[in-house]
Amino acid sequence: MKPAAAIHPPRSLAGEALNLLAWHMPDLVAYHHHPDEWWFAPLDDNLPLLRLNRTGLDMLKAMNGHTTVGTLVDHYGTKICGPDGQPGSWHLERWATPNYSLCYFGTDPPGGHRHKAKWDILLQQVREGWSGQEGFEGEEHLEEFHHHELAHSEEDDRHFDLIETTVSHLFREPSDALSGLTYGRLLMRQLRRLGWFNPKPKVLLEIGGGLGYLAQELGKDLLPFEKQGITYVSIDITHPFLTLQVTRAKAGGWQVSGTRANAESLPLADQSVDLVIDNENMADMTPVQLSRKELSSGVGDTGQHQEALDWIRRLRLPIEHDPPESVIFNLGPIRFGAAITTRLSQRIRQQP
Ligand SMILES: C[S@@+](CC[C@H](N)C(=O)[O-])C[C@H]1O[C@@H](n2cnc3c(N)ncnc32)[C@H](O)[C@@H]1O
Repeated sequence: MKPAAAIHPPRSLAGEALNLLAWHMPDLVAYHHHPDEWWFAPLDDNLPLLRLNRTGLDMLKAMNGHTTVGTLVDHYGTKICGPDGQPGSWHLERWATPNYSLCYFGTDPPGGHRHKAKWDILLQQVREGWSGQEGFEGEEHLEEFHHHELAHSEEDDRHFDLIETTVSHLFREPSDALSGLTYGRLLMRQLRRLGWFNPKPKVLLEIGGGLGYLAQELGKDLLPFEKQGITYVSIDITHPFLTLQVTRAKAGGWQVSGTRANAESLPLADQSVDLVIDNENMADMTPVQLSRKELSSGVGDTGQHQEALDWIRRLRLPIEHDPPESVIFNLGPIRFGAAITTRLSQRIRQQP
């Protein structure tokens, strides 16, 4: 079982805290659920979605680095900020804790030089916050999580509604924001416009298709004869998701084959794939944490670290003169990129 999120106590909003400035987290993912209700996706697993009304949204926007916590308390402290009924003070006490991580309270702007980047520190605290463990999650964590922990997840939308909220999942229903289309239908229109269905691909591969809505919606935007002769291949590491992907791809009218596999070592023949779709998946692949000593010497402490260092050398990725104490290198996506390159047909290589 995944450890429950450690509960961080709300911050006290008294004394010096009132003079701190507030910055909201950059690149927040928001979903406009109702005319007066916005959802903010958490930055990490196991944290709650936050629901805000217009007042709550205004308070979040007011956290622009020029407004003090005291001003926010005066202005929004007693106003109701969301459909759950809590006033601004309730939100202000919590948003800067790892359990919410919507904002940062401080005297200096976050960002700047990497070693002082407070967003990084806050994100690190988020990870430690839910896991209760300090430091890097570990190089086996993501694969273990998908392979074992999600293998027992119930077959419903809850995991993606609450934890891994992706754009394609949020737009699985038609939305005004997409001119009345779903994400999958819009993507299919773009693929057609770009020439990917003239001539048709014979094998369309989707990696890490989650609950399968994309396959279903892509298929719905093509007529049956347009799908004829195409095999939709789903590859996913999480078995219950794969089952749903196959079911929904069939509902979208595809001839489908599903295989449980790790995309970092694809069980496919060379030049066997004409079109690949990989949606919000690469960040799930294996990361490794390399030390300064390993980066400087080019010698890894483990086989996996050596593989990462060999890729850095082969791809001629620049290493700074004075590298940081440690860096996280996304080995999995590099492995996947290398594996998929050999599996692509000539056609995909010639596509403009
Ligand atoms: C964040 S979800 C994205 C799901 C879907 N594409 C979407 O946009 O909603 C990641 C998906 O990739 C799968 N996955 C994660 N790591 C994988 C790996 N190494 N190989 C294959 N599938 C993987 C997960 O099981 C899940 O279905």
